Amino acid sequence: MSEATNTGDVLELYRKHLNPGMALLLRLMGLENPAVEGEGMVVRDTAGKEYLDFLAGYGVFNLGHRHPRVVAAVKDQLERLPLSTKVLPDESTALLARCLAEVTPGDLQYCFFANSGAEAVEGALKLARLATGRQKVVATFGAFHGKTLGALSVTGRDIFRSPCLPLLPWVVHVPFGEVEAAAEAVDEDTAAVIVEPLQGEGGILLPPWGYLRELRTLCDRKGAALILDEVQTGMGRTGYLFACEAEGVVPDLLLLGKALGGGVMPVAAIVARPWVWRAFSDNPFIHTSTFGGNPLACRAALATLEVLAEENLSASAGEKGAYFLARLAELRQQYPDIVAEVRGRGLMLGVEFTDEGSGGFVLAGLLQRGFLVAYTLNNTRVMRIEPPLIIDYREIDLFFQALTDILAELAR
Ligand SMILES: Cc1ncc(COP(=O)(O)O)c(C=O)c1O
Repeated sequence: MSEATNTGDVLELYRKHLNPGMALLLRLMGLENPAVEGEGMVVRDTAGKEYLDFLAGYGVFNLGHRHPRVVAAVKDQLERLPLSTKVLPDESTALLARCLAEVTPGDLQYCFFANSGAEAVEGALKLARLATGRQKVVATFGAFHGKTLGALSVTGRDIFRSPCLPLLPWVVHVPFGEVEAAAEAVDEDTAAVIVEPLQGEGGILLPPWGYLRELRTLCDRKGAALILDEVQTGMGRTGYLFACEAEGVVPDLLLLGKALGGGVMPVAAIVARPWVWRAFSDNPFIHTSTFGGNPLACRAALATLEVLAEENLSASAGEKGAYFLARLAELRQQYPDIVAEVRGRGLMLGVEFTDEGSGGFVLAGLLQRGFLVAYTLNNTRVMRIEPPLIIDYREIDLFFQALTDILAELAR
């Protein structure tokens, strides 16, 4: 086995062995050098170029890169028992389940651990069906819940869905944020309503205030489970530990992923109220995963929850996000022909450009100047800004200055 050392070698391996389209895209964007290390807000590539991370792996690195507490917890577990025996009980898995039951709102009590967000979605859809004995699922247009077949069935973007049809039957999509449309779709056959508290990949879209509460009432009235997909919004991102807390809503199934593993381990979770968990009493093997809930991942998640609490990161995400959004709003006023809208909550922010060309110019300019950013997956006119929650005001100002310079250049 040889190592790829020259610039462009890794992209060539991408082209030959991973994803030719992605190799081309990365080359066009000038992103040829692989990332080699990260620390806090900073990522370095093989050429020694440093980036300030304003994307955080789409919401994975809420604690920044390689938070020492998470790394230490994982190293410690690595020396003892990295993966589960699957026969004997695991202490770290049980402790994490208790911790999540304590920090999540209401009577959310039971956990199932998976390895990715999509897997958590899959499990939640299945458990909602088992608990209700119904099949229908109501989801929203523009939603992103992952790309495995079940998760894709509730994802709301045709470009990903159409090539894979037929997907799960009995899935109905309604406009996000419109409770009347949901009320028309949810009936006595509905097992679940699945929704993100604010749509991430859909373009950082906030529903009208009270939407989640009305969905909660609707589900209660019809006997359907409310699944809140907080894979991206959870773990302090929006200024609350979980975004549903802003409206005081307790879902029947809360889905977590991405930042749960502290940017060190992949781990996702379904946290549920007792009534949805009956299937496990009937059959403990009704839903399983070989690697889900492994000790390494659970130790990382436990350390992550401790750090979030001790460093008060949810609240500070709210404060820094408000400052960031106010500064972006100034730019919107200054360049209304380029910036159509700025929006978001906490440190989950979006800048919508008037056209894709302007967005591309700004994105390329930021990358060139050493700021990691990206589009939202379901809306390529929206640039997402999702930095680690440990970001400081100086770094926000650096970004703002770079963005100001690029917009001035574009306006000229
Ligand atoms: C809200 C939401 N749900 C689910 C997923 C899928 O997660 P994963 O890519 O870990 O499968 C994502 C990923 O972006 C997401 O943003």
